[in-house]
Amino acid sequence: MTIPGEVSTRIAWLRDEIDRHNYQYYVLDAPLIPDSEYDRLLRELQQLEQQYPQLITPESPTQRVGAKPLQGFAEVDHKVPMLSLENAFSEKEMNSFDRRVRDRLKSAGPIRYSAEPKLDGLAISLRYEKGLLVQAATRGDGATGEDVTQNVRTIASVPLRLLGTDWPAVLEVRGEIFMPKAGFEALNERARKAGEKTFANPRNAAAGSLRQLDPKITAKRPLAMFCYGFGEIAGGALAETHSDSIKRLTAWGLRISPELQVIDGVQGCIDYYRTIAQRRDALEYDIDGVVFKVDRLDLQQALGFVSRAPRWAIAQKFPAQEEMTRLLGIDVQVGRTGALTPVARLEPVNVAGVTVTNATLHNEDEIRRKDIRIGDTVIIRRAGDVIPQVVQVVLDQRPDDTQQFLMPTHCPVCGSDVIRDPDQVAIRCSGGLFCPAQRKEAIKHFASRRAMDIEGLGDKLVDQLVDKDIVHDPADLYSLTIDQLVALDRMAEKSAQNILDALNKSKNTTLGRFLFSLGIVGVGETIAETLANSLGTLDDVMSLRLQDLVEIKDSQADNLQKTLAGTRQKQLEQNHPFEVISAHRGLKWFTEVHWHLLLERFPSIDRILSAGDAELANTPKLRIDGIGNILADQIVTFFKQPHNREVIRKLIDAHIHWSESAIKQPGEQPLAGKTVVLTGTLSRPRQEIKDQLQALGAKVTGSVSAKTDFVIAGTDAGSKLSKAQQLGVTVLDEEGLDQLLAE
Ligand code: IVH
Repeated sequence: MTIPGEVSTRIAWLRDEIDRHNYQYYVLDAPLIPDSEYDRLLRELQQLEQQYPQLITPESPTQRVGAKPLQGFAEVDHKVPMLSLENAFSEKEMNSFDRRVRDRLKSAGPIRYSAEPKLDGLAISLRYEKGLLVQAATRGDGATGEDVTQNVRTIASVPLRLLGTDWPAVLEVRGEIFMPKAGFEALNERARKAGEKTFANPRNAAAGSLRQLDPKITAKRPLAMFCYGFGEIAGGALAETHSDSIKRLTAWGLRISPELQVIDGVQGCIDYYRTIAQRRDALEYDIDGVVFKVDRLDLQQALGFVSRAPRWAIAQKFPAQEEMTRLLGIDVQVGRTGALTPVARLEPVNVAGVTVTNATLHNEDEIRRKDIRIGDTVIIRRAGDVIPQVVQVVLDQRPDDTQQFLMPTHCPVCGSDVIRDPDQVAIRCSGGLFCPAQRKEAIKHFASRRAMDIEGLGDKLVDQLVDKDIVHDPADLYSLTIDQLVALDRMAEKSAQNILDALNKSKNTTLGRFLFSLGIVGVGETIAETLANSLGTLDDVMSLRLQDLVEIKDSQADNLQKTLAGTRQKQLEQNHPFEVISAHRGLKWFTEVHWHLLLERFPSIDRILSAGDAELANTPKLRIDGIGNILADQIVTFFKQPHNREVIRKLIDAHIHWSESAIKQPGEQPLAGKTVVLTGTLSRPRQEIKDQLQALGAKVTGSVSAKTDFVIAGTDAGSKLSKAQQLGVTVLDEEGLDQLLAE
């Protein structure tokens, strides 16, 4: 058979290209293209090589797994090589895998498979000798990896010593180290605030963290590990099936996927794939497919290996969460509190089943750091309900005529000056409610489901009402007339009436919701609810003073008094008293909020200067969990503003009401001081359960720690449940929850 010239050229080009990207990905941790693009290149090469097997060479990227390790870590030879998996991209390919397995085994009936998600992290081999962790190594090229023992030892979910005594003398466990989504988002958010480089995705963050030469840095990274296989084991297998062997690991303190299931036949595989695909976004970590393994170990042995992958396993891949597209422009959006956010306008691209046209760019610093320019080809990442992100620029494909982006110096909506937060990278419009963008966002927030819950008052309608100058503040909503509504675009009489009805219905609310709907910076549902519960009436909330919330301890008052007494009049003439006081090294705790507190409590600055320490001390009448000094200042300042008080007066005049509950005494709040975490799929809306728990005084948080009192676990609860079990936190199912609520 003759080989067309262009095939040889294409194959050579593909190999060069894949090698280059392999190096970027595995060695430098700095991929230039998304995985989906890389997979396409690899598949094209695989197909060509299948068509022309005589062109396969040992050095082809299809014939090896990874790349050589970096310098800096010692090399580790894997006694049992760390293999790769064959991929299936469709049900058809799954069917042919299953058929191949059955044919080879000459099996008439369905094959039993062990199924679990394919974690998107990096493969690690742990070696335990006599129950002690002696070595952790990366996969490297499958035969030789890097010794990352010091770093892996810092991962909480990897035991340094196995539990129990019935483990084999030598046990090599293989699994995936990954960074949960929440930890990844938090890590990037911190980096962004500190003006540092962010990670492209959780996989890169996990790899970067494990490659740290300083284990102290790794220790601060939220890494986790699930085990899914074995290397060397002294004395043979642990059980007769893969799933039973894996399950034994949990008894020894090793983590395995909570999604592990044993299923029958290819139909079982297809069902499992669909179920996991549906739950993909809800899982707490990134997965890029599911893995099926023939469960019986004797059958695995009979099937053996081909090239570097077992014949008894396959990975069925999900649509990629990263894709490439072009950045057409950068728009600037103005948020509820005036924050200006640059937003990428993209050539529409389908990412894991959703068409993406916009992605957040966070802030100007982020754009500079990633060197993003208009006209660039960029990698977009969409994971779950997180807003799509621009991960990086494909510099390789940068055209000559890209444009730099500059943040505007004036608000693009109202023209007001923009101000940069002194200690943050955020830029804000200074227009306040004068700015139509902020006004719109404030009204949308007011009407939203968790706030006043005005059904049918959608974003488009609010935009029109503000643009047409009909509504200036949330209170104006309640004087809307049917004529005004009917005159709007696409508004029939019936829907107009529905909106008026919904507005009427929303008037009956709770104080907590009302406070939340006002959109006070920093006051979320929980704080709003706590304020309502601990004060009971709107009047009491509105007349809060800093002295009710902010503490000056006796010891602090003593130091403060000494500083004030030593402050010379001359210093005060030249500088603001706050600066004079806060410059004093012994008073690190003294902030502008404390200064405002003193101004609130004393009639003049002279009186502050001559006050005794007992006078300076302040015991607030309220100690509200979650309200620190800065938030206290924001709340008090909000209610001091005449225009805010005016809007509230108008709202009360419009007959917004709630039953003015007396302050809930601790007896009526049996869950006061208790922290609860909800996880898994629950049979009622989470919000409903949250409301009930909060009404009884509980704090509902998102992550499990030693301070958590209860974890309510629905079906399919994952890592939060395992963490609770590890920490010995009380876990309740829904029945237990109902009991708790009833008690
Ligand atoms: S089994 C001999 N199970 O996928 C088979 N691998 O493409 C060894 N991976 O290197 C792998 N989740 O890093 C297996 N549940 C899982 C997995 C998994 C992720 C990764 C692993 C492996 C790569 C193969």
